[in-house]
Amino acid sequence: MSEVISTALEENRTFTPPTTHAASIPNMDAYHALCKRFADDFDSTWRDLANEHLEWRKPFTRTLNRENAPFFRWFEDGSLNLSENCLDRHVRAGLGERTAILWEGEAGEVRKISYAALLADVCRAANSMRQLGVEAGDRVVIYMPMIPEAAIAMLACTRIGAVHSVVFGAFSPQALRDRIEDAGAKLVVTADGGSRRGSIYPLKSNVDLALSEGCRSITHVLVVAHAGNKTETIAGRDIDWHQALRVQASTCEPLAVESEQPLFILYTSGSTGKPKGILHSTAGYLLWARLTMLWSFDFKPQQDVFWCTADIGWITGHTYTLYGPLCCGGTTLMYEGVPTYPDAGRVWKICEAHKVSILYTAPTAIRALKKAGDAWPEKYDLSSLRVLGTVGEPINPEAWIWYHQVIGKQRCPIVDTWWQTETGGHMIAPLPFATPTKPGSATFPLPGIDIAVVDKHGKTIRDGGGLLVIKQPWPSMLRGIWNDNQRYIDTYWRTFNNRYYFAGDGARIDREGYCWIMGRVDDVLNVSGHRLGTMEIESALASHTSVAEAAVVGRPDEIKGEAICAFVVLKRADSENLTLPLRAHVTQAIGAIAKPDDIHFVESLPKTRSGKIMRRLLRDIAAGREITQDISTLEDQAVIRQLQKQP
Ligand code: PRX
Repeated sequence: MSEVISTALEENRTFTPPTTHAASIPNMDAYHALCKRFADDFDSTWRDLANEHLEWRKPFTRTLNRENAPFFRWFEDGSLNLSENCLDRHVRAGLGERTAILWEGEAGEVRKISYAALLADVCRAANSMRQLGVEAGDRVVIYMPMIPEAAIAMLACTRIGAVHSVVFGAFSPQALRDRIEDAGAKLVVTADGGSRRGSIYPLKSNVDLALSEGCRSITHVLVVAHAGNKTETIAGRDIDWHQALRVQASTCEPLAVESEQPLFILYTSGSTGKPKGILHSTAGYLLWARLTMLWSFDFKPQQDVFWCTADIGWITGHTYTLYGPLCCGGTTLMYEGVPTYPDAGRVWKICEAHKVSILYTAPTAIRALKKAGDAWPEKYDLSSLRVLGTVGEPINPEAWIWYHQVIGKQRCPIVDTWWQTETGGHMIAPLPFATPTKPGSATFPLPGIDIAVVDKHGKTIRDGGGLLVIKQPWPSMLRGIWNDNQRYIDTYWRTFNNRYYFAGDGARIDREGYCWIMGRVDDVLNVSGHRLGTMEIESALASHTSVAEAAVVGRPDEIKGEAICAFVVLKRADSENLTLPLRAHVTQAIGAIAKPDDIHFVESLPKTRSGKIMRRLLRDIAAGREITQDISTLEDQAVIRQLQKQP
């Protein structure tokens, strides 16, 4: 933890929610009543919700087992199947013809997949995976563009109890290899390519590169022909998805798994070391995916078209593009391409064409679309919209107001949702038709979620900056870090002696109880809503033969939230300009999302006498700010003068 953020954001405008909708939590009295139910009887409130909202094969008798805390177990003696909860139960209820996935490709092609058709495809894919030797508990890596087959592959894993690990398609072969090896995956599901800004990006050939070294656990690669991209086929290993599915039966008995059966691993960045595999389990995760759809978005499956713009490679794509909407039996829109392609009207065009009623996106996208000008949204009919959500980074009040006025025409509540890969679903969010909102605040914790802002000793801070913690377990919490129990304890629980979950964010709760998220307090960057560890980028830079040492910090960026700024010490000061080669090197090691925006070549890095890099100092320099840090501990004071000379 490098610092506790103490700046306070002042924003006092309050927006009263429209009360025209019969929402699942219709007003603040209902919200307070539900919170009180949790406060009075935590376990039985969760028990009742789990019984009401999920379909169980074997009912559970024990709601929460805290015996081995912080390894909590929820609904542990029950069993269920996730795909049955997301598909079969809606088909059985007569909703087989309702559109489950409404897909639009970047080139404009549209596919509508009904619940009945999706169920049949998921069964075929599950049968095919089984035939390839995938069994319950085995890991399957999914490296795909945003196409329905990505969702089908994920659901197929859940049908047979396999554990999926989706790797975002923009990660490099090397990053993919690290994840495959850490997960010990048996199968990779990929596509020949995906469309991005009118061109094709490679996926299968990246898989080939990743598998060219190590990855001994992989036996097969299932390849979806999607982009018309010619790729090599390795006999015996590579299998064509469509051919494989065609010969399979369209039914597959869903495997009843225990509530705590691992559901997926999703790699995310931390402040130290390699990305960690966040592990989620089945029942608790699904329960919260469904409840937050209903509570935070007021999702009405019979009428809404829900569009979460997040890629399936991130947690937002898992919970809110896929599992949340499908568990509720509603329609989820999936879009393959870039939101500003071929022009800045694309998002609004999609909203008009498909009558999107709930839009959920990131502040970065909102800022970029705002910058493109109001003429773009004004060209389209956005009257179908009724709720607008945001996630991933703090939203600045100007972007919030624009979203509210220009997109929502002051009719649509803005739902600023704070959560993390680790939390599985929303933790702090307004209820769209109940909570009065303030631009830039995620407002209040959802019912059942117990948060506080504390100082480093765990003492509650009122109306001041501090560390955000969660004081009680919740069903969709991470169950651990894959292969690394100790790191789970060290990262999330040790800071507050196993009492509280430490989120890694700074926050403030104001006098009226509104929560303001101030950003990470550790060495994690948030670039366009993507989470990146400074350490990962530093080790990528340091692995270049010309680099002696590197330090990476974030600097404020108008659109991306944060930009990546690297300070690099070269082995030989007279080396040729290495900016481009180093950027390419990081792209190769991690992916283009981690490419530094600025690279400053320096003679040495500012360090304390104990050898720690003074990051706050570098952050001030990167942002062109006055240096606020006490530099008396700086080992070599001359470093500062040299750093300040940087352009
Ligand atoms: O710093 C917080 C920021 O994103 C981090 C979690 O990143 P990730 O695990 O990739 O999940 C992103 C999508 C849930 C948090 O620690 N963050 C997320 N939502 C918000 C946010 N910061 C401010 N406001 C938010 N609404």
